[in-house]
Amino acid sequence: MSKVRIGIIGLGFMGSTHFRIYRSLPNAEIVALADVDPAKRKGDISSVNGNIGNDDNSIPLDLTGVATYENGFDLINDPNVDVVDVCVPTPYHKDYMVAALKAGKHLFSEKPLCRTLEDAKEIEAAVKDAKGFINIGMCVRAWPEYDNFYRRFHAGEFGKALIVDFRRLSRDVSFSGAWENWFMDGKRAGGALLDMHLHDTDFITYLLGRPQAVSSFGRSVYSSDGAIDHLVTTYDYGTDGPLVTATGGWTSAYDVPFEMSFQIICEKATVRFMSEGYKVYWNDKRVETPVIEVGNLPTGWHQELSYFVECVQNNVKPDRYQNFQSVLDGFKVVMAEEKSCKTNQKVTVEY
Ligand SMILES: NC(=O)c1ccc[n+]([C@@H]2O[C@H](COP(=O)([O-])OP(=O)(O)OC[C@H]3O[C@@H](n4cnc5c(N)ncnc54)[C@H](O)[C@@H]3O)[C@@H](O)[C@H]2O)c1
Repeated sequence: MSKVRIGIIGLGFMGSTHFRIYRSLPNAEIVALADVDPAKRKGDISSVNGNIGNDDNSIPLDLTGVATYENGFDLINDPNVDVVDVCVPTPYHKDYMVAALKAGKHLFSEKPLCRTLEDAKEIEAAVKDAKGFINIGMCVRAWPEYDNFYRRFHAGEFGKALIVDFRRLSRDVSFSGAWENWFMDGKRAGGALLDMHLHDTDFITYLLGRPQAVSSFGRSVYSSDGAIDHLVTTYDYGTDGPLVTATGGWTSAYDVPFEMSFQIICEKATVRFMSEGYKVYWNDKRVETPVIEVGNLPTGWHQELSYFVECVQNNVKPDRYQNFQSVLDGFKVVMAEEKSCKTNQKVTVEY
């Protein structure tokens, strides 16, 4: 295959981020776009505003040569499309994902996997019969510092994990220009719990394996339907395992900067990704600042998309960052956290 032909469904914050990344990849070509919003179908993304990245969205995207559709199912049926990339709000992932897999397309879909455990079951069944490759946008797994830690930790460099803490905090996202302000609609977005904190839950499950249970404490502040806007979770890895916690939320005042950070204390070193950058503080008092070569792929979004396109181009099943089961596991853990917040009880995760 010369260039991989991409169709993007949903041109909001994530769709436009993906659009720009594909345009920068030599082996990808955007051939189709679907969006319910007519302005987006003309490339007008002036309403879009996200938590990372500072592109000038007042300049319309150039859609010359790109077929545009109002309905994402028409894009899925477009024979020119090799990869369907689903970037619509969370509750609409499932139907597009299942249709794309049934149509034999390769599928990249944004996180979270979907909105409910019932949706996840349907997707799981479609994945079993799928001919195309699949990747869910759990971009933190591919984020350079997180990926560097993951690989060095699993190579045994730092010894066993003892105390693990992740944080992901944003101002409220009602400013974001999102379509129909859907992030604040708890039924659709699932609060900060499902939309943001899931990244850390997923990374913890990927890094350390399946926790047995979770104890979560949360508050609903802005979202409708009692969805959790801020929470703290302890992940149960048994009394001999590490003490693992994560905090996530989108409740801070408007001018507070976005924070994604971790501190992981291991037997031989403490590794931090925080305001001081990414550092390894060795127990023997050396302080290391790892140099990570990212070339022109600075974020996890760039890394995951470029890798997926390369796999499709070379017909190699993608396995560097994920398999479907591991994504499903992380989703089940975050759903258990939701239940724990709502019931005020420790919840055993059912895998
Ligand atoms: N990986 C990440 O770091 C990250 C960051 C932000 C958002 N996301 C995820 O990406 C997805 C999209 O979020 P966003 O921030 O881009 O939202 P957004 O509101 O900015 O964009 C959604 C776009 O989808 C379009 N749309 C809505 N319903 C549609 C439908 N049925 N068919 C076709 N188009 C439709 C809207 O017009 C809009 O252009 C969500 O699932 C979100 O959780 C991931």
